[in-house]
Amino acid sequence: MTSNVVVAIDGPSGSGKSSTSRGVASRLGLRYLDTGAMFRAMTWFMLRDGVDVLDAQAVAARVNAPLIESGTNPDHPTISVDGRDVATAIRERGVTNAVSPVSAVPEVRARLLELQRSVIGEGGIVVEGRDIGSVVWPQAAVKVYLTADADARATRRAAEEGGSDVTATQASLLARDEIDSGRATAPLTMAEGAHHIDTTPYTLDEVISQVVALVAEATAAE
Ligand code: DC
Repeated sequence: MTSNVVVAIDGPSGSGKSSTSRGVASRLGLRYLDTGAMFRAMTWFMLRDGVDVLDAQAVAARVNAPLIESGTNPDHPTISVDGRDVATAIRERGVTNAVSPVSAVPEVRARLLELQRSVIGEGGIVVEGRDIGSVVWPQAAVKVYLTADADARATRRAAEEGGSDVTATQASLLARDEIDSGRATAPLTMAEGAHHIDTTPYTLDEVISQVVALVAEATAAE
């Protein structure tokens, strides 16, 4: 049954995860959860609270302070911290530069893991992140690992950021990839049983169709 399915979509920044995940959820009438936005919201809170984000102990001491809430409508996803809408603020450069070290703190991951699992609940959701198929929901019916050429990723992300410099964006993406892949707790990795899609040669619509086909195949087999 498609209605309770969990679709896990992992991959590095700029691989097309968000657009693909929202598109798949919209087409299939499923909910959508952007776990990266939760890590960004936690980072936004730490920065605003004056916590030194490079001090893992200081970050760990404050993980339980913010109330982080995610709205799961794929056509209008929302994210708030203590009731304040932070959807725009969490995309700012200060947060982007600080999010990888904050995400590497085990206490941050443990707190958000609990939140993520409670949102996933009974399923019927497309969840995007770095460790969804490997750690958050290894039992997901469909696991997808999206990648794209570094050039394509930087070009897409720079356009999303309203025309940032592509070379600088690429350097920032690669630096984040390195921290996200190298951290000790739940590193970015292709989960066992995941379908790898290199999105470089495909349009967004084509990638969405490929994932929708994987969901149809997995749920027909149930
Ligand atoms: O998908 P994004 O670029 O918005 O994610 C921001 C950061 O959050 C990313 O650099 C690593 C972290 N992240 C994570 O560690 N685990 C996840 N499941 C999702 C994101």
